[in-house]
Amino acid sequence: MTEPDEVPRVSLQARGIAKSFAGVRALAGVDLDLPAGKVTALMGENGAGKSTLLKILTGDYQPDAGTIEIGGRVVSFAEPSDSRAAGVRVIAQEPEIVPFVSVAENIYLGALPGAGGAVSQRRLQDQARIDLARFGFDGLLDPRARGIDLSPAQRQMVEIVRALIDEPRVICFDEPTSSLSDTETTVLFRLIARLRDDGCAIGYVSHRLREIFEVADQVTVLRDGQLIGTRTISDTSESEVVRMMVGRDLSAMFERTSHEVGEVALELAGVCTDDVTDISMSVRRGEIVALAGLVGAGRTELALAISGDRPITSGTIKVGGVAQKFRSPADAIAAGIGLAPEERKADALVMVRSVRDNIALAVLGRLSRFGFVNRRAERELAATYISQLRIRTPSMSQLVQNLSGGNQQKVVLARWLAKQTDILVLDEPTRGVDVGAKAEIYAIIDELAGKGVAVLVISSELPEVLGLADRIVVMQDGRVTGELTRAEATEERILTLAIADHLSSEGVLP
Ligand SMILES: Nc1ncnc2c1ncn2[C@@H]1O[C@H](COP(=O)(O)OP(=O)(O)OP(=O)(O)O)[C@@H](O)[C@H]1O
Ligand SMILES: [Mg+2]
Repeated sequence: MTEPDEVPRVSLQARGIAKSFAGVRALAGVDLDLPAGKVTALMGENGAGKSTLLKILTGDYQPDAGTIEIGGRVVSFAEPSDSRAAGVRVIAQEPEIVPFVSVAENIYLGALPGAGGAVSQRRLQDQARIDLARFGFDGLLDPRARGIDLSPAQRQMVEIVRALIDEPRVICFDEPTSSLSDTETTVLFRLIARLRDDGCAIGYVSHRLREIFEVADQVTVLRDGQLIGTRTISDTSESEVVRMMVGRDLSAMFERTSHEVGEVALELAGVCTDDVTDISMSVRRGEIVALAGLVGAGRTELALAISGDRPITSGTIKVGGVAQKFRSPADAIAAGIGLAPEERKADALVMVRSVRDNIALAVLGRLSRFGFVNRRAERELAATYISQLRIRTPSMSQLVQNLSGGNQQKVVLARWLAKQTDILVLDEPTRGVDVGAKAEIYAIIDELAGKGVAVLVISSELPEVLGLADRIVVMQDGRVTGELTRAEATEERILTLAIADHLSSEGVLP
């Protein structure tokens, strides 16, 4: 590690930053200070302008007004390379990963070591192994794996390593933990602490309040594209930050209601796929079951198998007592199973279509007669979910690609809620969603269960699992390691089941 005075400590100051998109004012004169040697959290509801502000710091967007100073000098970023040259890097909310090349190639894209000649795969991979270890990601990511095979957590790690090899002085993370489990988050926080102690100025966007109080020194809050204020972490509280974000007290936090649990809706017996082994579990009508475990434990794989997207090599899936043979997702949908997938970009949304089209897509059959879509029914459906989930969009004809990350996630959910399936599988349903909207989504899931829907939720957020589920099934390395009722479950018990085998070797438990 470098001595503090070896490298100049630089702070970033942005003043009066404004940015509008056709019809949408994203930022209206925002000030931001990122002091060297400090972690500054940036918080605000979905659509508040956080990512837009960071994209201005990277030179991806040009501000309509305002100035940026780095180390006391005014800078202007006409394009991303200017920002990189000034020592600024942002870890993006949705990392860009090239699907059909290796992790190593993805890391050194555009900055191949030994540039000029042909670079051997071998050398790239050796270098990648060294850099991954340097940042604490060894063992979590294979340099030879292809981009397309990476989990969201691993994509995030590639993005982080890619940024850090340039040794930036100002580093911003845009929701880095939304796809990480607790263990990986611990690894990331250690890394952030190290960067801070090295004198980096760090910006940190997250919707997880608990994290902010763990990792940040100060918190800056945006609302509707305006700066609300900055507080030192030790002088503020979660409730004050929430009040600054939403402009009111968030009094009624989510409370689970108890409902009648009916017959078994979904039953798995000894299910195996290439990635999961011998899974037996069930979900009853009116019941919310959570699948907990570390990223890579096989939860998403299992969800894909249940929804017909992965072949089952042995075992059976029964729906309403009837054994099923899914050859494709369409078969599972026909059997009454809906899956809201984890990755909104790749699997779930048609980015270049409108919010309305995306919500209606799953129910076109129901909205059509004689091959014609009933436009009015389609609009009504979209309007219902836009208001129920508080999707922040200037209109229902806005393209999904122009929505903020959290609002895109709400569109994914809306689509599957609109479909009204008997069995609903939700993979990280509140990923990237702000605190206020989270409570609303929990209430909707609760209401669906109250109507008799069988819900299976995958979540890496333990408070979410504990607050929402009737039962918790914990997985590790592709197997079920235990099951807890709502009454039995604690964070510690879930974690223990999730990492039991790793306890001795890694010492990740406190
Ligand atoms: N390219 C664009 N075209 C049109 N509108 C945009 C564009 N990019 C962002 N916006 C709008 O600007 C506003 C701010 O979006 P931004 O992505 O900065 O929010 P955010 O605070 O990062 O939210 P989240 O927590 O959901 O990620 C939103 O209303 C969004 O829809
Ligand atoms: Mg964002």
